[in-house]
Amino acid sequence: MPRSNGARLRLIHGDARRLDPVATGSVHLVVTSPPYPMIPQWDGLFRRLGATDYAGMLRVLSDAWEECHRVLVPGGILAVNIGDALRTTDGEFRLWPNHAHTLSAAESIGFRPLPYILWKKPTNKPNAFLGSGFVPPNAYVTLDCEYVLLFRKGPLRRLPPHDPARAASRYSRAERDRWFSQVWADIKGAPQQSARGRSGAFPATVPERLVRMFSLVGETVLDPFAGTGTTARAALEAGRQAIAVEWDDVTYRELHARARRERWGEITPGGARGGARGARPRRRRPAGGTGARTG
Ligand SMILES: C[S@@+](CC[C@H](N)C(=O)[O-])C[C@H]1O[C@@H](n2cnc3c(N)ncnc32)[C@H](O)[C@@H]1O
Repeated sequence: MPRSNGARLRLIHGDARRLDPVATGSVHLVVTSPPYPMIPQWDGLFRRLGATDYAGMLRVLSDAWEECHRVLVPGGILAVNIGDALRTTDGEFRLWPNHAHTLSAAESIGFRPLPYILWKKPTNKPNAFLGSGFVPPNAYVTLDCEYVLLFRKGPLRRLPPHDPARAASRYSRAERDRWFSQVWADIKGAPQQSARGRSGAFPATVPERLVRMFSLVGETVLDPFAGTGTTARAALEAGRQAIAVEWDDVTYRELHARARRERWGEITPGGARGGARGARPRRRRPAGGTGARTG
């Protein structure tokens, strides 16, 4: 993806809970997929971040949403791809409703919840069924949807009439009809691999759509849990500026090398790694919205 149109990528080896290198009110859109609490793949990483139980994992995420609230412009959008988890602990099998906690945490930080997207993932095991035989009542519904939760920081953005950037960012009627429907069942794409094994990357189509749905050409898109950089790449390809924050050393180095090798854009190192291992992030403001708190 060689670029010559002034695309700029800020790569930050840092902590989503302490986005100090990112100025307040400087980001137009956040598109991200955090590590999912209670998915075993992420247990080790949460431990390294100081979170050893479900409440602690949820706190890591809500501290990051608070930083997203700070760096977004008024009216800016936060889009969070998250899935729930199924797991047995202490002999009890149950759902860990990550999406519900994320909704309620973001609302208490002050975000306005918007209608969300249910992403029905293609499965290569269409008959996957948790239970035995064909008799009620002890079987479980298949968990094959993830969420793209959408929030706005305050009221709608005000843009000047006939804004040329807005006109340049137009999508087609067919795109609008597909993208703004509540269920996305048409997204294919193999997850990417990384040096760490499974990267948890989402298919590029997810951030490609969100970037074009909720930001204008030339604006800044942030991914505070960057991973392999799928969001940053999609943003740069769509003529936006990108900021990618990644905490894990190996993943960050791999992301940096890939962005350079594939010439995603002009790369600016965006600041030192913040938030020492297990360090407490800055304290949250008192809850707003309904006052509901999670974790
Ligand atoms: C689900 S993956 C993101 C995948 C990404 N959407 C992609 O397409 O590659 C979550 C990423 O967040 C990173 N991460 C976890 N905690 C973090 C933190 N506190 N700050 C920044 N990055 C973090 C993990 O190392 C991992 O790479």
